[in-house]
Amino acid sequence: MHGEIRFFLLKIYPVHDIMDGIFMQFRRSLLNGEENVMIKTGPETATRKETPSTATDGRQWHKMKYNFDTCPDRRGTGCYKYDFREEFNAPEDALPLWVADMDFTSAPVIVDALKQAAEHGVYGYHGARDDYYQAVMNWYEGHFGWKSEKDWIVTTPGVVFAINLCIHAFTAPQDGVLIQQPVYYPFARSVKTNGRRLVNNPLICDGGRYRIDFADFEKKIRDEKVRLFVLCSPHNPVGRIWTEEELRRMEEICLANDVIVVSDEIHSDFVWEGHTHHILAGLDPKYQKNVITCTAPSKTFNIAGLQCSNIFIPDPDLRAAFKTALDATGYGDLNLFALAACRAAYTGGGEWLEQAKQYIWDNICMAVCFTEQNIPGVRMLRPEGTYLLWADLRELGLGARERQDLVLHRAKVWLDRGEMFGPEGAGFERINDACPRPMLEQALQQLAAAVSSLGL
Ligand SMILES: Cc1ncc(COP(=O)(O)O)c(C=O)c1O
Repeated sequence: MHGEIRFFLLKIYPVHDIMDGIFMQFRRSLLNGEENVMIKTGPETATRKETPSTATDGRQWHKMKYNFDTCPDRRGTGCYKYDFREEFNAPEDALPLWVADMDFTSAPVIVDALKQAAEHGVYGYHGARDDYYQAVMNWYEGHFGWKSEKDWIVTTPGVVFAINLCIHAFTAPQDGVLIQQPVYYPFARSVKTNGRRLVNNPLICDGGRYRIDFADFEKKIRDEKVRLFVLCSPHNPVGRIWTEEELRRMEEICLANDVIVVSDEIHSDFVWEGHTHHILAGLDPKYQKNVITCTAPSKTFNIAGLQCSNIFIPDPDLRAAFKTALDATGYGDLNLFALAACRAAYTGGGEWLEQAKQYIWDNICMAVCFTEQNIPGVRMLRPEGTYLLWADLRELGLGARERQDLVLHRAKVWLDRGEMFGPEGAGFERINDACPRPMLEQALQQLAAAVSSLGL
């Protein structure tokens, strides 16, 4: 079956002809951290068009138990990614690679748990029990070596909800809340809509890799009455996995200045080879005093629509204040489907996740490689984590409107504009690569053709 799909793709998407030969070489370079990769595209690679049965020398995509190449048609389901074109002024035929969910069917173990819950037919009040908390804690201990306690966990219907709650619970109007733009846009919105002062410590893009301006970070914290720092770790959209040293440095500054850290670690299950995600609160017991760790199974298992997140608050005073703010919203418990899905995901979803990650990693390699080879003026930054690509189009020299016209209307690819993530995002586009590879390839080809039509 897999072979048939691949053969079909070879015929429809000739991009494979050039991709196969350069892919492994590129991937090796990526793993070795080489900055300027020379990719050979000589005739012997370009003409090696292999049928599935002969492509046995490793120069092929990872073999998959699950079929991520074909996904259910999401149109008409009410999902944002496909069904809100009118609201977002996106052309009918634009390929949607924007909102950060996956097109893949979730893990079978989750689908089964949901079916079982649905078929039961009685949908009364439900709550999280020991087995739920145990599943969550086991996941974080098993994957990150982080030992937590059941009492630390507070469930909320989303991480953005929890961030808003933290702003409410731990800051007063006009207090400074620090973020690092370009960053996931609800961070800035949460600060502003709650009437707090937005303090930005812009990340610096250095040769295609972002870094933190620590001097600015410390100065802003000291000078701008910052009470709360919302950290994005791994970072959406720039794809950084913060090193232990970077995390410790930020945290030490925060501790020294009585700043509470909300560490949004929702993307922590997508970490690419050569990098390690560190749970900030797990680096040192003293960090438990001021760090709130926001987690969720939603990105990892594509269950965002079920609205489930687990917020770890080890410090009893912070937890009490958070719970008071939570009670004031009138929010009760996670719904029974969220509970069932989260428990199933964290107990039996591991194998599916490994497969999904391999597929996404191949997508990433393909996209970075294709862009380097075929889209002059566009640079696809190499992500260290997340399933999001951050494309740098600044060399094209287009204004925001012209770039929007190029991407959305000429290329017919629907992305998240860089400006949404803050002024530092100008000239960039965010691409969600958790989609079938043929769709991603199609989008890249359309982008390449549109850029080429500019005649620059
Ligand atoms: C960094 C980050 N935090 C939070 C969220 C959304 O979390 P939730 O749906 O649980 O509010 C996203 C979704 O893209 C995200 O990228």
